[in-house]
Amino acid sequence: MAQQFEDKFHRKFYYLRLSVTDVCNFRCTYCLPDGYQPPGRKRPAFLTLEEIKRVVTAFADCGTSKVRITGGEPSLRKDFPQIIEAVANTQGIRKVATTTNGYRMAKQVATWREAGLTHINVSVDSLDPRMFHQITGENKFFDVMAGIDRALEIGYPQVKVNVVLMKDRNAKQLPEFLQWIKDRPIQLRFIELMQTGEMDELFNNHHVSGVEIRNQLIANGWILKAKGESDGPAQVFVHADYQGEIGLIMPYEKNFCESCNRLRVSAMGKLHLCLFGEQGVDLRDLLQHDSQENALIERIQTQLQNKSVSHFLHDGNSGMTPNLASIGG
Ligand code: 5AD
Ligand code: SF4
Repeated sequence: MAQQFEDKFHRKFYYLRLSVTDVCNFRCTYCLPDGYQPPGRKRPAFLTLEEIKRVVTAFADCGTSKVRITGGEPSLRKDFPQIIEAVANTQGIRKVATTTNGYRMAKQVATWREAGLTHINVSVDSLDPRMFHQITGENKFFDVMAGIDRALEIGYPQVKVNVVLMKDRNAKQLPEFLQWIKDRPIQLRFIELMQTGEMDELFNNHHVSGVEIRNQLIANGWILKAKGESDGPAQVFVHADYQGEIGLIMPYEKNFCESCNRLRVSAMGKLHLCLFGEQGVDLRDLLQHDSQENALIERIQTQLQNKSVSHFLHDGNSGMTPNLASIGG
């Protein structure tokens, strides 16, 4: 193995988030409120299967054991099962995850599992079908629910569900969410709304801290689970009466970045050291031949020395990131 990816602050990077497309068919108010806008007339060329194989191989050779395939909506790619398979077959990769809006999951999840997908995250911002429609722009609540049920049915031991916390939307729906996970192996993750470059009023109107949810959980007997070495920044709570778990992702909380264990590669082949605050470094010229692996690793190692200690979101820095669909959440 080449030298493990590590930064100046001794953070090790076990985890690659790889975006395979910017395109999404949903219009979440906090991400793509006007839907995906193609950049001009020419279709952008997202990473090919061969390029994906090369980038994942380089990361795996430097200690990465988990890859999340993200987007946009990754399942919009026709070769999504082939991508899963290629990642899963890379030596050293033990976990292959995806984050999906779930609209095709009921039909396709069995194929994904056969291809080697080990972990699934689905976005469900409300359990009220009308509010779900209001937030995502799509009337697909029941399709997504069927997708989650199907995933559990075909043998996934757990499904993670993302909920972006929003004042006057879902922030008061904790009882409904808790009821839903009582007898289901779901890890429900409340994510604080993050301010991105394209957002103006939305953040001011709807940002709400996860602290209130945390206090309610603790008051009701939920217990913080100890973190494993390779666990990310989520705080996970468990309760003896519930099969499901609750995760809290609070990027505005102090020390959030200390447990950062991930790097990102965009669908255009740029390395992003953080979700926020930088333009990314192009890797694509080094993804054209297998023989370029050493040069690729060297470029990533060099860039890693520039990774900041924190995202400085507290200072209102939403940086260069227009929305999270462009960089893979
Ligand atoms: N703030 C917080 N989370 C976001 N996501 C997308 N945009 C934002 C934002 N501005 C997350 C959602 C979704 C995943 C793909 O990215 O949780 O589930
Ligand atoms: Fe699409 Fe996900 Fe963005 Fe919603 S949050 S618009 S599902 S990429």
